[in-house]
Amino acid sequence: MLETGLAFGGDYTPEQWPEEVWAQDIALMRQAGVNLVSLGMFNWALLEPQPGRYTFEWLDRVLDLLHAAGIRVDLGTPSAAPPPWFARLHPGARLVDRAGHALGQGGRQSFCPNSPEYAAASANIADQLGRRYGDHPALSLWHVHNEFAGVNPHCYCDTCAQAFRRWLRAKHGDLAALNAAWGTAFWGQRYGDWAEIEPPRLAPTAVNPAQQLDYLRFSSDTHLANFRRERDVLRGYSPGVPITTNFMIANCKWLDYWKWAAEVDIVANDHYLASEREDRHVELAMCADLTRSLAGGGSWLLMEHSTSAVNWQPRNIAKRPGELARNSMAHVARGADGVLFFQWRASRFGAEKFHSAMLPQAGTGTRIWREVTDLGARLAGLGGLRGTRVAADVAVVWDWEAWWALELEWRPSQDVTFRERVEAYYARLWEAHLTVDFVHPEAGLGRYPLVVVPSLYLTTPATAKNLEAYVTGGGTLLVSYFSGIVDANDTVPGGPYPGALRDLLGVTVEEFLPLRAGERVTLSDGSAADVWAEDVHPAGAETVLSYVDGPAPAGPAVTRNARGRGAAWYVSTRLGGADLARLLERVYADAGLSARPALPATVELVRRPPYVVAINHGTAPAEVRGATVAAGAVLVLRDEP
Ligand code: GLA
Ligand code: ZN
Repeated sequence: MLETGLAFGGDYTPEQWPEEVWAQDIALMRQAGVNLVSLGMFNWALLEPQPGRYTFEWLDRVLDLLHAAGIRVDLGTPSAAPPPWFARLHPGARLVDRAGHALGQGGRQSFCPNSPEYAAASANIADQLGRRYGDHPALSLWHVHNEFAGVNPHCYCDTCAQAFRRWLRAKHGDLAALNAAWGTAFWGQRYGDWAEIEPPRLAPTAVNPAQQLDYLRFSSDTHLANFRRERDVLRGYSPGVPITTNFMIANCKWLDYWKWAAEVDIVANDHYLASEREDRHVELAMCADLTRSLAGGGSWLLMEHSTSAVNWQPRNIAKRPGELARNSMAHVARGADGVLFFQWRASRFGAEKFHSAMLPQAGTGTRIWREVTDLGARLAGLGGLRGTRVAADVAVVWDWEAWWALELEWRPSQDVTFRERVEAYYARLWEAHLTVDFVHPEAGLGRYPLVVVPSLYLTTPATAKNLEAYVTGGGTLLVSYFSGIVDANDTVPGGPYPGALRDLLGVTVEEFLPLRAGERVTLSDGSAADVWAEDVHPAGAETVLSYVDGPAPAGPAVTRNARGRGAAWYVSTRLGGADLARLLERVYADAGLSARPALPATVELVRRPPYVVAINHGTAPAEVRGATVAAGAVLVLRDEP
């Protein structure tokens, strides 16, 4: 991380260019205001062309040139791209898919994450880098690997099977405990020997869900162990230099980033716009809020985003004029202390040549270049934002384990997914100008007037206690359907649904009533809902809205349970858009959140005291605290009330 100001720059790949281009790169970086570049993440074969033979001289020259120009370096370890010789030498280190196919080379991250040969070779190249550059004056940050688990989240080879068994022994202790936790009485799956246990390989039918959950936990831990190994090597060479890795919060379901966040010195995220979505800026805001939340509300870094189109979506939509600044500044508004792009100069060859860059194929006489240099100049004037903390209004519970569990096979409806409900609630909060912190289900909640639980299918007893304490202490809680259903082993705790939460919510659910594709139900206030309904019975809660038609006519649809000094709301069906916004107004009133800025819903307003950032996503100018924000523009103001 930089010592002062906001970081601005991108991934720099000098290895793809002749040396005479480097001087031009650096001159242009200075022109654009670049002060930090990421380097080296895919250079293993270029730094160690044969096992044990090293060619660092070219990288020495790159680092020295950058240093002379005052540009700081985020130096990557190349372990995401093992060299071709590695795969040839170690055929047993190949990545194996669920069906047992060994995957090929020619891309990146095609290795078994539990391979001991990979562990040794990647630790060795990290050691070489640490030894050579650990005290280089340009070094500002270490960047371990690139997007752990990006394309090799799970491997099903025999090495992984053995590692899985070791992990299970450490977790469960003995086979009796494992058999109980996994419910192996079902379908006669009882294990009599550790060696009988396999990863959840492709099977003719659904594999034990508790086994699958443990495999997902084990895999997240596997990648984390790989991070730690390299981190600890580097730490020895440069104790004061922070070490990170780039998360991919929007697109990676498979790492439990709550655990990971505790292991990095600064949280860094890559975010790529869901370019075809109308509400892509809302999805961006959600990911930025989640990243900040992983950082405990503190400083974080946007390690990668794009200046315009990417190359890997079905249709790669170019950003519209001004969108680059709105995107970058939205990350800054939500706590980023730096914004970097993938990548500095567009590649001429390889799989990513159609990906936008800071310096596009068409060079400097371009709109992208102008927008990049404008952004660099603007960020240079915003150094005061660095280290300031975002003021959040509401908490939304987010849990990777609950996400995994909810989306295993054989659930009551394939239309119920984790992200869908989180995004639906988040979008309404965004439009209401309420800033969201995401929280782990067992985290302290007392400072939030409102906590939303969009879908927490897997709810541990500790979580239930935490939510209970929050409500009785005076909090307002809103829980969406299909929460509190199973424990950490995907086991129903017993009694009516929603087991873990039924006392707190003051309802029982006799039966899930998923709706047919396209089927809609009407609620007593005229709202239309779809996807899901339930046979809800009040057990202390009052009915706020009921079903008018559908499979539970006259039954409660939305309830409120006064408990202690607070209240717990339950929404048993899928509401969206204006209907959900209307319901939430009642919940906001209950939580004391009625006084909010009178602004069009399309104006994003985030406070980083003593600053406030206003981003106008609409097509008309808007007045914010006495200043005019033009359509499409971004304003940073002092936060004077
Ligand atoms: C990821 C990777 C980069 C690059 C970009 C392209 O974020 O980290 O190396 O492939 O995607 O969008
Ligand atoms: Zn493996």
